[in-house]
Formats: sequence, C-alpha cells, structure tokens
Amino acid sequence: MLDIHDFERFAEVETPFYFYDIDLFRRTTDALAALSDSYGIKIHYAVKANSEERLLRMLSARGFGSDCVSANEVVLSAQNGFAPSDIMLAGVGKTDKEIRTSLEVGIGCFNVESIPEMEVIDAIAGGMGVKAPVALRINPNIDPHTHKYITTGLEENKFGISRFEFEPAVERLKACPNLDFKGLLFHIGSQITDVANVFGLEAKCARELVSWFEDRGLKVEHVDLGGGLGVDYDDPDGHPVADFETWMKALRSCFPKGGAYKLHIEPGRSVVAQCGTLVTRVVYVKKGRTKNFVIVDAGMNDLIRPALYGAYHKVENLTASYCRKDNTKDCAYDVVGPICESSDVWGEGRILRQTRRGDLLAIRSAGAYGRTMASRYNMRDLAPAVYSDEL
Ligand code: LLP
Repeated sequence: MLDIHDFERFAEVETPFYFYDIDLFRRTTDALAALSDSYGIKIHYAVKANSEERLLRMLSARGFGSDCVSANEVVLSAQNGFAPSDIMLAGVGKTDKEIRTSLEVGIGCFNVESIPEMEVIDAIAGGMGVKAPVALRINPNIDPHTHKYITTGLEENKFGISRFEFEPAVERLKACPNLDFKGLLFHIGSQITDVANVFGLEAKCARELVSWFEDRGLKVEHVDLGGGLGVDYDDPDGHPVADFETWMKALRSCFPKGGAYKLHIEPGRSVVAQCGTLVTRVVYVKKGRTKNFVIVDAGMNDLIRPALYGAYHKVENLTASYCRKDNTKDCAYDVVGPICESSDVWGEGRILRQTRRGDLLAIRSAGAYGRTMASRYNMRDLAPAVYSDEL
C-alpha cells in the first residue's frame, strides 16, 4: 500500500516512473515460498511478467526456478542466480539460435509446442553432442473464462500440442534419440479469477492426460500446471497478496502430495502485479463539452494493458489524498495519456478527488506486464524503475 512517506519522496523523482514496493514484494514471495513448501509445489516464476533484475535476484534467492519465453530471458535468469537446471523455455517459435543458447546454458527443460519443433531440438542437440530435456506442452482445450487475448489453452489458440496430434507426437518423441522426456506442461490462460473451479478442472484434465501418456509408455516425472492466477485489479489494497493457497489446493485435488509426480507452477502476474505502481503527473486538466479530461504524462507506451485488452487499472490522485485534506470534492474525469492514439486512455468517467495540474496520480497494479511490455512509441523515454527502499 502506498503511504504518505512514499508520496513525499515521489516529489523528487521525474515522472512517469514505475514504483516497486519491496516490502509487499517480500510479503508476497514469503507467502508463496511457504505455501510452495507446504504443498510441495515447485515455483517457476514467469519472467515475462516482470524482468527487473533486482526482483529476479530476490526470486532466485528463494530457490524458485524461472519460466522463460526467449533465450534472452534464459540468459537473464542464469545471470541473476537461477540454477540452469531450474530454467525452462516455452514458446511456439523457438529459433535455432535460441535452442542452441539454451542448450549451452544447460536449461532444465524445453517445453515443446509442436512436432516440427521437437525434430529441430533433437537435431540441434545431436549436433552439439548433448541430450535435450523436454516436456510436451499440452493444449487441453479448456476455457479459462478470461480475456480472449490471454486465453491460451483452447484448440483455436496457437499454443501446445492438441489432442488430434497426441499419438503422432508420442511416436515422434520415441524416435528422437537426443531428447530426454521429462513431463507435461499445461497452461490455459491468465488473470483467472474463478480459481477453485477453473484450476480444479485443469488439474482433473491434466491427471487424465498424464495417464494417457503413461499408457503409451512415456515416464512422466513432472507435471507443470502453468500460471494464470488472477489478482484483484479493483481493490489492490484489499487483496495485496494473491490467493496462492486456493490455487495450490485446487491443483493438488487431483495430484495428492507424496504421489508419483513432481508438481510445478509458473506464476507471473500474481507474484508482481500488486507491488508495482505507475506514478504519473497531471500535465493539464482540460474541459470537454460534456466531460473533463485529466491529461497525464504516462501513456499507453508505458503500460499498454488498457489499450490492448481494455484492462482496468485503479487510478488514484495521491496529491489530493495526501496534501489537500480539505478538498473532499469528487469529480468525474476521463484520464488520458499524451500519445497520439484515441485508445491512450487510463479510464473514462473515473471519480477522482478534484484534480489540478501538477498532481501526482497512481496507476495501480502495474507490476505485471507493465514495464516488460513498454515501448518507445512517439520516441518517448522508457519510464524507469524506482524501488521503495532505494528512494
Ligand atoms: N506460463 C506460460 C506458458 C505462459 O504463457 C504464461 C503467460 C505464464 C506462465 C504466466 O501467466 P500468469 O501467471 O502471469 O498469468 N500480457 C497479458 C498476459 C499474457 C500472459 C502470457 N502468458 C496481460 O497483461 O494480461
């Protein structure tokens, strides 16, 4: 939660910037590590959500592994303390160069998404005289009831190997001498809020498919149930730490502890979202004919989620809250950024304390898929990261 002390120190910093609350990050990772131990589920943090090296070092120091989707993420993970054997690489389009780099790093697992990819990894590993550890990413055809752009486990999505190819995939795998089969990966989507039901269904489906593959002679060592746990964008202070326990309980429902399989999960958003705030300054308050605009100095290039998915991020006027105790008047504003795109909108009709030029605003829950998805569109500078204990 942002407090007056954070706010007082913000005055010194050029906006916009990403503010990371290190205490909350610690509390979140403490909770995750404790539950990981008690449920016996190994964490592979999804680096794509936030690849700040400081945060990566804190995660690797906890003994977590990493889940990557590019060779650059693999190399960054290794440089920031993740044991190579705890690094996994997924992605439908792994290039030859990325495969080679990952084999050189000595990663623990390639999550293979197609038969052609299997053949390429086998050939490259053979050429390098090594064996590549692989898991098959399964497309279980489950609807996670989330935004269609972040749904990944339906057959219409490009991800994973679908049922109709299971038989040929097993045959091909058995014929690849340089692949070492480790397990199966399932990941059905992101920002899943119906946690018990959707993940319960995923676990049930995964359990059946594990048996199916074992019946065909594959020895499944680990089952990776992916990421996807949602966070509360409406009320970040009410729910600062995600409900990791309900998630783990749902996954364990079909894979009892002490059973034959190692369970892995790949949380991204739930680890970092609530720790990050995009802090921005009001440049102008502009009258429209029917509404008023608050124009801030952070734009869709800094955080693209609202423009790309229509995602909601809570917006607060910090200056009005902390400096103008007498100002209780609330007004409706369209809060917008400076970019030359009509979709550069933080929220329409948002109720904020009466807002003035120079006020500092907080765009909340911005720690996941914020800075990692930022661009330099309009030739803007990238918003820097600022840590609560370094201000
Ligand atoms: N594992 C795999 C294979 C994934 O594809 C993803 C996310 C994760 C794990 C982590 O999922 P999480 O726990 O963060 O939900 N940019 C979008 C989200 C894209 C998610 C892509 N894959 C957004 O801003 O909502």
